[in-house]
Amino acid sequence: MAQTKIKRARKRQLGQFYTPARCARKLVAELDLTISSVVLEPSAGAGAFVLPLVERFMELHHGSQSLRLEKTLRDNLHAVEIDPAAKTAMLVAITRRWGRLPRQHRLTRGDFFATDFDTTFDVIIGNPPFGGTIRPALQDKLDARYGQRDGFKIKKETYSFFIVRAVEMLRPAGRLRFICSDTFLTIPTMKGLREFLLNRGRTAVTRIDGQFAETDQPMVLLDYQHTGQTEEVEIDGQPLRRETINLTGNRSWQINESLGRLFAGPKLGDVMVASSGMTVGRNELFVRDIVDGAVLEPYDFRFRQEPITLRRELERARLGYLSQAVRARIMRQEELGETRRVVEAIPLAATRRVPLPHPDYCFYNKATRDIVFSQPKHAIFWRDDGDAVITFKKSGNWYLHGVGGQPYFKREGLSWQLIAPSLNARYLPPGYILDSGAPCAFLRDGIDRDELWFVLGWCLTPLCTRILKDVLNHTRNIQSKDVERLPYPFWVAPADKGKAIARCRDLVVAARSCGTQYRRDHPEIVALTECYRVH
Ligand SMILES: C[S@@+](CC[C@H](N)C(=O)[O-])C[C@H]1O[C@@H](n2cnc3c(N)ncnc32)[C@H](O)[C@@H]1O
Repeated sequence: MAQTKIKRARKRQLGQFYTPARCARKLVAELDLTISSVVLEPSAGAGAFVLPLVERFMELHHGSQSLRLEKTLRDNLHAVEIDPAAKTAMLVAITRRWGRLPRQHRLTRGDFFATDFDTTFDVIIGNPPFGGTIRPALQDKLDARYGQRDGFKIKKETYSFFIVRAVEMLRPAGRLRFICSDTFLTIPTMKGLREFLLNRGRTAVTRIDGQFAETDQPMVLLDYQHTGQTEEVEIDGQPLRRETINLTGNRSWQINESLGRLFAGPKLGDVMVASSGMTVGRNELFVRDIVDGAVLEPYDFRFRQEPITLRRELERARLGYLSQAVRARIMRQEELGETRRVVEAIPLAATRRVPLPHPDYCFYNKATRDIVFSQPKHAIFWRDDGDAVITFKKSGNWYLHGVGGQPYFKREGLSWQLIAPSLNARYLPPGYILDSGAPCAFLRDGIDRDELWFVLGWCLTPLCTRILKDVLNHTRNIQSKDVERLPYPFWVAPADKGKAIARCRDLVVAARSCGTQYRRDHPEIVALTECYRVH
């Protein structure tokens, strides 16, 4: 059982989802190969692509089987695989089929990023690891090498770095065929990769869902030719112009010409600024459910001074790493006996019931599926402007140090669930502390308050969710920047805009005062969304 678990974890860590033989065979069969083609499979696994590649080259060469195998593996085919077991399985499969391996071949065990090649390639083909993690020791080094192209960030992910490195190893007019996750089509953090591809050659993307037993992740075939900068890509057979792509803030490859029209005007980011909230680190210490207008407090919070030590600072640091200069500073502090303020939660003998409102507590804006408005369900211990929570975060691990969304705490705005299939937007009254699971948006200075109702109404329309999920970010997450990139509904005529504002405001008032919980198919919500129709 434990072994199975370890195996599964290792598979996931290496992004080890193998391509079905039939699929790999088809992708290899479609390649234009000659006797002098040089091909690389950079993450060969057990050889799903390598076996049909050997077969194709063997057909092109002359002579005995062993001579043809020798020529293929010497002149035509390079492969790398990090996992020794997978690489052995690949070699065994070749031997079984074509006999003993020649002494010299280029099917190596190694890390693609740490492998040097003495050639460039006509074709690079495969299914690079997806979702796997880059070895911590290599992360920063690879980021320095591949993390930026053409002034854009390339996301620190194995498959984006695989794509960049592979493209840069192609010969002029060379071809890259990679099976990869469809996430790179829209997500903002892959914008740099999309730009990179457009600036280097011709890309066609085709969906190949449902062919992979080992993952539910929708997959695509990325077919790229190294021809130099182009002005369009092809998505499922349809051309998509760079001009249309550029209308979207994230440079989406899932826009189409008709939705493109809606991006021709202002964006929500012109009237609202969106922000994520904070991660407390340990909610159970500070966040309480509200029950019958009160919270039950199990702790008393006390502050004390703790000595600063290098050992503790290394534990808190990202990847356990601190530069020499920082280490030297900490060692000096340690020698001088300097201290840091920390907070302790001391369990009370019996929980204390605290009726709300109370000056030591603020409402806490956690994610909820509710739309229009949600009655407060959580409160956070926030005495002295959150001193205990902020001290806890600052003395915790590196990723807790920042206080996300702090400038927007207690402001009136909109909020929605970070992880949701649709934009579950609702009014956020003033006074809340913000949680990272529920990003928020706030009117920019000088913008009329009516715009809050107008934008909230727009966020509740099916069209808005469609644009968000199809064009801007088709993953489960709805980040603050995704919402800023939504079109502002400039096409709504003034009379309809007035109606939308009044309807939305009335809905919020009803939800707050009578506790009405609206669903999307409620007639009043349907009537509201009608105001935003595109004619
Ligand atoms: C998605 S699987 C695909 C395997 C094979 N190409 C196929 O299509 O069946 C990705 C493979 O990449 C390997 N891998 C992960 N990181 C690697 C790296 N840095 N260098 C080389 N191979 C790597 C994994 O062990 C795994 O076999």
